[in-house]
Amino acid sequence: MKVFVTGVNGYIGAVLAPYLMERGLTVLGLDTGYYRDGWLYSDNRLLAFSPQTINKDLRAITEKDLEGCDAVAHLAELSNDPLGQNNPAVTHQINHKGSVALAQKARAVGIKRFVYTSSCSVYGAGTGEFLDETAKVNPQTAYAECKVLVEQDVGKMAGADFCPVFLRNATAYGPSPRMRFDIVINDLSALAWTTKRIAMISDGSPWRPVVHIEDICEAIYRSLVAPEDAVRGKVFNVGRNSDNYRVREIAEIVAAEFPGCEISVGPPSADNRSYRVSFDRIHNELPGFAARFTAKDGARQLREIFERIQMTDETFKFRAFTRLKQLKYLQATNQIDGDFNWR
Ligand SMILES: NC(=O)c1ccc[n+]([C@@H]2O[C@H](COP(=O)([O-])OP(=O)(O)OC[C@H]3O[C@@H](n4cnc5c(N)ncnc54)[C@H](O)[C@@H]3O)[C@@H](O)[C@H]2O)c1
Repeated sequence: MKVFVTGVNGYIGAVLAPYLMERGLTVLGLDTGYYRDGWLYSDNRLLAFSPQTINKDLRAITEKDLEGCDAVAHLAELSNDPLGQNNPAVTHQINHKGSVALAQKARAVGIKRFVYTSSCSVYGAGTGEFLDETAKVNPQTAYAECKVLVEQDVGKMAGADFCPVFLRNATAYGPSPRMRFDIVINDLSALAWTTKRIAMISDGSPWRPVVHIEDICEAIYRSLVAPEDAVRGKVFNVGRNSDNYRVREIAEIVAAEFPGCEISVGPPSADNRSYRVSFDRIHNELPGFAARFTAKDGARQLREIFERIQMTDETFKFRAFTRLKQLKYLQATNQIDGDFNWR
């Protein structure tokens, strides 16, 4: 199977490509390279499985680019809430319109399987109850709104000739050479390593689901190879029930992996968004899927990488590892225009 992986140079894409190739799939990547300045570490596995990649914007993909591919795994978007809020118009252009157009082109060239990386952020503000895939969505940001719109528009295309699958990922954690320090476990682990101190600005009481980056890759792989009838048009939350934590528990798990790290807790926050997510469906209905990692495994793996590369504070703070910083830098230095196209 030849898979067209968009966002192949992103945090998840850089781990996904080798993950699929090790399992015998061929990968053709696409990425516009917003974060190409950031690469945290190398190893032989990554080098052995680096895919052929088209350097192009999602909005400029043609049907010709997709010819010869059997499936699409679509990851290329402006991904996370602050990035979406930074420019909601361009977020809609890329994340909503660009994603739907990609699905239409894929279907036009006869590609049936289309795996879309959605997000648990579609659930928005909850009350701490367990939410499953039938819960009402309640997006709070442009990023989450676009995820809902893509699920709706591409979901309507499901039929005998098209088999989309929607993966609502929890917040990811774990090492990737295309590191991101703007997500909670990666950020707290880097803080613990560089300062031996996690100072929380709130009391850390809200619930958050998190998921290991390789469990996301496994969910994508299983969605690509599953029989059509098992997945056509389906939505799956991606994670494991036991990886729903209160934010202060996440801080405790991370601190325990970094000897000498102290935690301080702040006052209750006005931001009381809190939700827990049920991951029963993916474990019961996606053939072959089982989440393998926990937050503790992720924090340990991050510590091992930081030790190996002797990570400095400067590296932790480097713009290309924090999405909003990097895109603001590309705008401020006139490298991308108002529509986020390269000049
Ligand atoms: N990381 C998480 O916690 C998480 C959680 C839920 C869902 N997701 C989703 O998974 C997908 C991948 O996430 P990630 O963390 O790897 O994101 P990322 O930002 O690290 O990577 C996205 C990649 O897409 C590329 N890209 C962005 N806009 C593009 C465009 N217009 N044309 C071509 N390439 C473009 C970027 O250059 C980048 O390499 C995203 O759709 C994201 O919303 C991620």
